[in-house]
Amino acid sequence: MRGNSRLRRLASFGMMVVLALTLAACEQAHPNTTFTPHSEYGRSIDFLWDRLLLLGTIVFVLVEGGLIYIIFRYRKREGDERPPQTHGNVVIEIIWTLIPAFILLFIAVPTVRTVFRTQAKAAAGALEIEVIGHQWWWEFRYPEYGIITANEIYLPTGRTVSFKLTSNDVIHSFWIPQLGGKRDAVTNRTNYIWLTPDSTLQPAVWNGFCTEYCGASHAKMRFRVFTVKPDQFASWVAKERKPAAFGTAATNVSAALGGSEADYTFPLNQPAFEYAKPHTPVPRGMTFTRGLTGNAHRGQQIFSTSACVGCHAIVGNPAALGNIGPNLTHFGSRSTIGAGSYPNTPAYLALWIKNARVMKPEVLMPTLGKNEYDPVVKSRVATGGLDDQQIADIVAYLWALK
Ligand code: CUA
Repeated sequence: MRGNSRLRRLASFGMMVVLALTLAACEQAHPNTTFTPHSEYGRSIDFLWDRLLLLGTIVFVLVEGGLIYIIFRYRKREGDERPPQTHGNVVIEIIWTLIPAFILLFIAVPTVRTVFRTQAKAAAGALEIEVIGHQWWWEFRYPEYGIITANEIYLPTGRTVSFKLTSNDVIHSFWIPQLGGKRDAVTNRTNYIWLTPDSTLQPAVWNGFCTEYCGASHAKMRFRVFTVKPDQFASWVAKERKPAAFGTAATNVSAALGGSEADYTFPLNQPAFEYAKPHTPVPRGMTFTRGLTGNAHRGQQIFSTSACVGCHAIVGNPAALGNIGPNLTHFGSRSTIGAGSYPNTPAYLALWIKNARVMKPEVLMPTLGKNEYDPVVKSRVATGGLDDQQIADIVAYLWALK
């Protein structure tokens, strides 16, 4: 008796926990859910999921219900005789082969239709974006506008966008949960995926991910998608097509180095998009001299005469022509660094330049800070390393590239 009431208490406690967790889950926004699609592509996948869930539930309830009914109805009773034994029944065999085949029809027909519809060529007039996967960042090219950027894309609402996917190294996979996906980015092969962000969408930002394991920093291969109104897109394009503006002379790096998050300015600075702000903790032990102010002009000089230009291109800086790393034109207007790993603030950027390989395992970007330990080369950076003042200057320069 006591055991029974304890069991009941335990059961009710368990129910409370489940209920609390469910409610807590409902409280939060679900920025990476696939259940609230914002494109026709997302909706067609969502429809398939709903159909499968519905049919699966019906089958489950009928089969399990029938099973439980038969277990109870025909359970062995006192004095029962051994029932007649049969082996094989052609009619029943045919029936229970036909029923699943019939159910499968309701799943297969819409599935195959969706596959063909979404694999067809995108409609004429679609905005083409070339997506090139790199270990571990995303290169985005808008051939129509001559724009090359990295880790952030802007899409006009209501216009079909056709992503043309390839990879520079290993297989990656492109996924924007709320808009659609996923599709692999493969070397020597071009894959396509197209979708139309709903024209009713208010300006918003979406998280994008690499969903194919691609090495040490696979989890830090993210991107941001900004869906904006067509006129906002037009002004973004106009800005991106011009070489980076270079006005600000000095950026106070130290002010931001206290770790104050207030420095993080989101392109669409709204609390609703808090989920798009990276929260990767800075690795322990990373330090930067306080009280430094970077000088953008000095930074430009250091940048242009150091290894930086071998990997990064900046339109408007004739020395910066590298194409191994992300194109940094308009870098100052991006919201994250390290492919969505950290907020793009002077503080994080300074640490990134100082020792990117500590912040993102095995990243190609070498450790640049003087006396810093490079975990890939397994030695300290001696001669040629940058001191904190030089890094602060580069930060000021990159931040001036709005
Ligand atoms: Cu790229 Cu995982």
